[in-house]
Amino acid sequence: MAKDYVAQMFDVSGKVVAITGGGGILCSVMAEALAKAGAAVAVLDLRQEAAAEVAKKIASQGGRAVAVCVDVLDRQSIEDACKQVVDALGPVDVLVNGAGGNKKEATTSPELSFFDLPESAIRWVFDLNCLGTIMPSQIFCRAMAERGAGNVVNISSMSAFHPLTKVLGYSGAKAAVSSFTEWLAVHMAQEYSPKIRVNAVAPGFFLTEQNRFLLVDEKTGQPTARGKSIIDSTPMARYGEPAELLGALLWLISDASSFVTGTVLAVDGGFNAFSGV
Ligand SMILES: NC(=O)c1ccc[n+]([C@@H]2O[C@H](COP(=O)([O-])OP(=O)(O)OC[C@H]3O[C@@H](n4cnc5c(N)ncnc54)[C@H](O)[C@@H]3O)[C@@H](O)[C@H]2O)c1
Repeated sequence: MAKDYVAQMFDVSGKVVAITGGGGILCSVMAEALAKAGAAVAVLDLRQEAAAEVAKKIASQGGRAVAVCVDVLDRQSIEDACKQVVDALGPVDVLVNGAGGNKKEATTSPELSFFDLPESAIRWVFDLNCLGTIMPSQIFCRAMAERGAGNVVNISSMSAFHPLTKVLGYSGAKAAVSSFTEWLAVHMAQEYSPKIRVNAVAPGFFLTEQNRFLLVDEKTGQPTARGKSIIDSTPMARYGEPAELLGALLWLISDASSFVTGTVLAVDGGFNAFSGV
């Protein structure tokens, strides 16, 4: 009885979820988990092969998934992807805006000062994280507005709360993602339907390809000074595991969080709460 009660509250079975960046490290884990929980998942990624791989794995485990190639910075590509998802799986209940990332050249280092950061790299990081969240939301939320129901989960970052040293482009871009999350939550609830909720997950530190160059010495494989500093600043004293984002995601897209919108939820081992002293 108690088990059923909780299961019902967190039930996402039958939902159609579109997840951008679904071929990547964190979002592929999310896609697989959502499928295991009974959702039909559209794995959207610029890297078609990576998306196909994830969809194949889901199908091999008995889940329902489709891989769709998308460039979250190209309106036509997103429109086409959205249509493909709807044709394959039906109307989209949940959009997870996971596509994002950082670039070494938008990050200061002993070799690259703030004064010399190339505009093209800063623009690339801003566009991918910020516009790459706004544009899919514009396209997928139109149908949610018409149906009067829907759910969006953006992926923000610790660098949105307080900018991380060195990481200029990404910190600004993710701050914009958090701001957009709040903005869209209010806009959707007031202009269209209070049943359209918009939230974000802000992961703490997970060792992935986008930050490995900052956290692990390429030559020795040992943690960099920055890597050590992150662990020292994380009260739980470790990196997160991608699977540790899943509880937050399931909570946000299920009725368990039915009164929650406009929230940026930190999943960070306490990093954001720690003053350093
Ligand atoms: N790894 C971390 O510690 C961490 C921390 C906080 C936030 N995040 C965020 O989590 C999300 C996933 O990150 P990840 O670490 O899994 O990175 P990842 O690089 O493994 O995944 C990102 C995916 O986005 C795809 N992508 C890139 N450009 C695209 C485009 N124009 N159109 C469509 N897809 C595109 C990539 O092909 C890739 O599969 C990102 O938004 C990232 O900024 C990661």
